Amino acid sequence: MAKESFEVYSLLDKKKKGEKLSEKEIKWFIQSYTEKRIEDYQMSAMLMAMFIQGMDVVETAALTDAMLESGEHIKFPGKNVIDKHSTGGIGDKASFILAPIAAAAGVKVPMIAGRGLGHTGGTVDKIEAIKGFNTSLSLNEFQKKLMDDGLVLMGQTPEIAPADRLIYALRDVTATIDSIPLITASIMSKKLAEGANGIVLDIKTGTGAFMRTTKDAKALGKSLIATAKRFKKKAVALITDMNQPLGNSVGHSNELIESFETLKGRGPKDLTDLSLALAAHMIHLAGVEKTYEKSLKKAQLMVDSGKALEELKKLIRSQGGDPKVVDDYSLLPMAKEVTLVRAPKNGFIKMFQNEQIGLLLIRLGGGRKSKADKIDHGVGFEFKKKIGDQVRKGDVIFEIHHNLDQKAIAEDIKSIFLKDVLTMSSTKIKTPKLIIDKLS
Ligand code: URA
Repeated sequence: MAKESFEVYSLLDKKKKGEKLSEKEIKWFIQSYTEKRIEDYQMSAMLMAMFIQGMDVVETAALTDAMLESGEHIKFPGKNVIDKHSTGGIGDKASFILAPIAAAAGVKVPMIAGRGLGHTGGTVDKIEAIKGFNTSLSLNEFQKKLMDDGLVLMGQTPEIAPADRLIYALRDVTATIDSIPLITASIMSKKLAEGANGIVLDIKTGTGAFMRTTKDAKALGKSLIATAKRFKKKAVALITDMNQPLGNSVGHSNELIESFETLKGRGPKDLTDLSLALAAHMIHLAGVEKTYEKSLKKAQLMVDSGKALEELKKLIRSQGGDPKVVDDYSLLPMAKEVTLVRAPKNGFIKMFQNEQIGLLLIRLGGGRKSKADKIDHGVGFEFKKKIGDQVRKGDVIFEIHHNLDQKAIAEDIKSIFLKDVLTMSSTKIKTPKLIIDKLS
């Protein structure tokens, strides 16, 4: 417990005027809020002051530490425990591919993943399309599974960074989500508590990402890496394109199928390339291989040899699912009806309003409108064409997979897709670069 006591009002006033808060002041404020000695309206005012005035590296580290200290820390022996974090996007299923690849190569991968947030999908929601897969493990089970199996996947638990959970709920309703220091502290407090020695970050940028511009994505990447360094953790960040979905499938069951196909060497190129690159950085950070190039070769070998797919089967079995699902896709819930969306004219695909895709999936029941909503794992979208592809009028560019009683919603989605999501060009469009930058 921070011993000194401060005045809430004077700390709010200080931050409002753009002065720096000391480590002790930040820790006192967060601890007092977590212990309910500071009201929600005062914390909201502080968050807005932090949002507007910004925070330097020292303040961000202090906030991270205060949120980390609000809960339990897991400690693992050895140096090869490496985690990955994506800032979230549309069709981002890379975790299901890179985690078994890295685990097959000898990295221990502790994944505490999230559910869907805003327009973005969540890893935990997606894996729960597999009947019986248990994402609610105790911290003890989590630790034991990681040590025994080298790979474990569960949802957020109340013991990890509880201050973040409280503060996140306030940020969500006070327009203070998209602040680089607040995002940094939120992500890093959870990641540090999970006990990884290193972290590979996938920072998305574009129309489907929280960070719309490459400049902001880089600033977030730098802030996350600087904070990781202060806590003596190794970190690498890739800045990656999220102006269109990663891979071709968006949903739950269909994203799992695309991940299984990728682990069998038959995945779309963008998803394959990014998953291999992220896995290779994990292999490298864990010290399994001396160079990134050797790590990339190893990652590819884990796919080619079928070892990565075996790791995924092991994970599914260990957490209560039927591993046969990776070969028998009929074990996954799937929508029965498909509505096709065709190109309205000849040309090239120029742009997708990617955030809209996530919102349309929610409309179909593949995401939550409110916290208590149940996810329909069977509905989803398939992109038949991506940015830069040439199309002829009438070519299928997009499929809506929906239930029999959702024909009217599907027709509505079809017209929104053509009107608001898709932009075509009559001239050739360059395929966007997937990995825009690397920060380490
Ligand atoms: N993800 C998090 O965990 N926290 C944020 O603040 C934003 C994205």
